[in-house]
Amino acid sequence: MANQVKSDKDYSQYFQPPSLTDAKKRGKEEIAVHYDFMIPEDMQGFGKDKYYLIRTYGCQMNEHDTEVMKGLLEQMGYQTTEDKNQADVILLNTCAIRENAEDKVFGELGHLKALKAQKPGLVLGVCGCMSQEEAVVNRIMQKHAFVDLIFGTHNIHRLPALLKDAFYNKEMVVEVWSKEGDIVENLPKKREGIRAWVNIMFGCDKFCTYCIVPYTRGKERSRRPQDVLAEVRDLARQGFQEITLLGQNVNAYGKDFEDITYSFADLMDDIRKIDVPRIRFTTSHPRDFDDQLIEVLGKRGNLVEHIHLPVQSGNTEVLKRMSRKYSRDHYLTLARKIKETLPDVVLTTDIIVGFPGETDEQFNETMSLYEEIGFDFAFTFIYSPREGTPAAGMEDNVPMEVKKQRLYRLNELVNAHSKASNDKLLGQTVEVLVEGESKNNADVLAGRTRTNKLIHFTGSKELIGRMVEVHVTQAQTWILKGEIVEEPLKLSI
Ligand code: 5AD
Ligand code: SF4
Repeated sequence: MANQVKSDKDYSQYFQPPSLTDAKKRGKEEIAVHYDFMIPEDMQGFGKDKYYLIRTYGCQMNEHDTEVMKGLLEQMGYQTTEDKNQADVILLNTCAIRENAEDKVFGELGHLKALKAQKPGLVLGVCGCMSQEEAVVNRIMQKHAFVDLIFGTHNIHRLPALLKDAFYNKEMVVEVWSKEGDIVENLPKKREGIRAWVNIMFGCDKFCTYCIVPYTRGKERSRRPQDVLAEVRDLARQGFQEITLLGQNVNAYGKDFEDITYSFADLMDDIRKIDVPRIRFTTSHPRDFDDQLIEVLGKRGNLVEHIHLPVQSGNTEVLKRMSRKYSRDHYLTLARKIKETLPDVVLTTDIIVGFPGETDEQFNETMSLYEEIGFDFAFTFIYSPREGTPAAGMEDNVPMEVKKQRLYRLNELVNAHSKASNDKLLGQTVEVLVEGESKNNADVLAGRTRTNKLIHFTGSKELIGRMVEVHVTQAQTWILKGEIVEEPLKLSI
């Protein structure tokens, strides 16, 4: 149901606050796949001589949604700009995962208010995960009424029509589907650089008790294998060197197919045969990561030996309260199995500290698990209550000061491990995909190893986009430095 509303109405009726009970009753109705998307005729050329700017917050899923929105806008004739003053359309593609992500967006809206006052013709839109939250939409309508357009994560393909409404309407246009829509296959995407993202699925059905994503992104639905494979083949033909398969829980890929049996491992086994130098995937869930996938990853080739495997906590009791559906032992066994098949694997993870009720002993189990696994890196977070999620209703007896201390201790450990794992590469020669010039020094090139480590070295700009061998000469906590290994001359005898 589309909720097209005007500002004189009671908006609350159009939103369902996140509700675990309702969300778990997710319909079994089939998700239809559409292959016939077109920019509506009256919107073709609408962006001629106009400029757009999209600010993206949050995860790679959002980055990729931005590529789709850029594709749509450019098909309508809009051109990109980085200058707010030049832009005719500004979209904020938002993230709701933690409170500080939301604060950043409200801060930016505050800055944009003055611009909107100077330039009333500017269309200012808010999209992404925050728009799926009733409380956020209400706050924007009450305190940031200068916003022209709000649309949700299931409404991206509607952008051309919504822009038109926002352009001609004096009142705020709001379209947020609380229920996920169908899969729209042939949306345009504007990809840049040598690395590409490919969605393999949308949504999440895991309902970890702290997480807002199952509500903002809807139920799990997988793209058909032939559509994913066709997109990867096409990117290979275009010369992309690295592809990252995206999903909130890629290991659940294919579980929603009713007519075929085809898992994430099957998909990886097929993608392995496509001629792209590197294939990555994110994010994995330890519960669904199966032996078949480990076996396929063991075939290596373009499947890189880096796995991001969020653990969240090292204590079984906390994991239970997070509803992660695995234990500390399960995770340790899984990591052991992965290492048996891929002894040189780089494992990285996500960790939440200060979950409601987490004791010192339980936190110490996270620290000991980190050591035991020997992660190379972790994204670490202080627990942030999200309205409507089950954890937000749990009594949180861990003082903020304690949470901060735990984060500090954990980060010290993370940094020490990063440095130690980089040290191990000293003196070795690694395969590097050259991404571009380094941010601070145009004479230095920046690239990444198969295990996603950043490395700087001196070399010709012609190497950008190519694969080279680099000898590692320096190891720091976050970065490696090295010297390019000259290609040996091939002597003909
Ligand atoms: N508070 C803190 N961190 C969170 N994450 C997800 N939800 C929350 C929350 N409410 C973290 C998890 C997840 C990562 C993307 O963000 O670690 O893996
Ligand atoms: Fe959130 Fe990931 Fe859990 Fe899904 S699996 S609910 S996206 S943390």
